[in-house]
Parts: sequence; C-alpha cells; structure tokens
Amino acid sequence: MLKIGHRGAKGYEPENTLASFKKAIDLGCDGIELDVHLSLDGEIIVIHDNTIDRTTTGIGLVNQLTLLELKKYDIPTLSEVIEITNHNLLINIELKSYETVEKVIDLIENQISKKGYSYDNFLVSSFDWQALQQLRFLNEKIQIGVLTEDNLETAFAFAKFIEATTVNPYFKLLNEENVAKIHEKGIKIFVWTVNEIEDIQKMKNLKVDGIISDFPDRI
Ligand code: G3P
Ligand code: CA
Repeated sequence: MLKIGHRGAKGYEPENTLASFKKAIDLGCDGIELDVHLSLDGEIIVIHDNTIDRTTTGIGLVNQLTLLELKKYDIPTLSEVIEITNHNLLINIELKSYETVEKVIDLIENQISKKGYSYDNFLVSSFDWQALQQLRFLNEKIQIGVLTEDNLETAFAFAKFIEATTVNPYFKLLNEENVAKIHEKGIKIFVWTVNEIEDIQKMKNLKVDGIISDFPDRI
C-alpha cells in the first residue's frame, strides 16, 4: 500500500511548493501527488487552480502568464519538482487542463530516456477523461489513473477501455464489493483525499493500493 502526499504534504507546508514536496519526501512518502497547468509560454506549471489568486499574492490566469511572470511567486515547474525526487518515488501528475497532455508526455519520455527514471515513477491522472484518452492514443506506456468523485462504475469501465493502471476515486465511493470487482481485473485503487485516522484505517481494511493524504505521516 503506497503512502502518497497530496499536493506534497499540504497539511504541513503550502500546497504544491518545493517545500511541500520535500516535506512529503522527509515524511517517508512512496509518492507525491501534484496538479499541472500550462503557462502562456507552454511551461508545465505545478499549481492546483487555473489562477494564481488563492495560493499567491498575485492575480491572473496561469495560462495568461509567462514562466518569468509566474516565477515571481512560490510556484514550481514540473521539471523542478522532479529534480528534487529520487528514482524510487512515484510522481502522480494530475492534469488540470487538456492542453498539458503532449507536454507532459514529452517530459516523462525525456526523464526516462535521459535521467534514469522509469515508467513506474509516473502516474498521470485526471478528471478530464478526454485528456486521458488522448494521452493513451499518443502513448501506450505511460501509466494512467482515472479520477472520479461520483461515478466509480463508469470510471472502472473507462479504466479498462484505456488500459489504465489505477482508478482514483473519492474514498467514500468504495466498499468491499466494488474494490473486489476492480482488483479482479488487475486494476489498482488509489483513494483521495483521506486525512482522518479513522478513514485511513477504513481504507487500509478495504486493501486499497494507495492512499493520497494531506497528512501522509498518518497513513
Ligand atoms: O488526485 C486526487 C485529488 O488531488 C483530486 O482532487 O481537487 O485535490 O486536485 P484535487
Ligand atoms: Ca490533485
């Protein structure tokens, strides 16, 4: 069962910052989860919202700001995050916009061919299933995670269709029956965002394959 830090270690450090990812690594995480958008000039930016308003002192849409403009704030690029990881860590990249698909494929392929990473180091997830379908159309090897907050059955069917590695449901959607059904087909289950000790225990009892938490040390 993998211990995965949500937006790094969001419970302890500002989300999706290098400090947050370092904290997750220090806490002994097996993986980190992060969110990506594209900047105006096409750089892969690690940030949850499509604007910088909530998490920085600035304002504006991420895709209307250049890398240079975004760099005034504490916002890393995906390459910068990968640089502080080691080859044992799983990096769960959540695509927050369709436009990120090709850039993320190129970056992962580059890390694998030039930096000693393997396909096992990356899982690309999204609520935007069209983006996942496009990713699979362009690349057969990258591991995919199908995110859902309300429809596990459809997510499971889609996961089979695109040969995903995981389904990533909101944790309250799970029960013994649907976990067994998904595992039967060889698909893993990563749940989010599980923060309360009691809920973490429930997920462990259900034998999920990964838990994504703001407080990964509680897992
Ligand atoms: O990837 C799981 C979880 O992060 C999805 O929701 O809003 O935190 O990106 P959100
Ligand atoms: Ca996310």
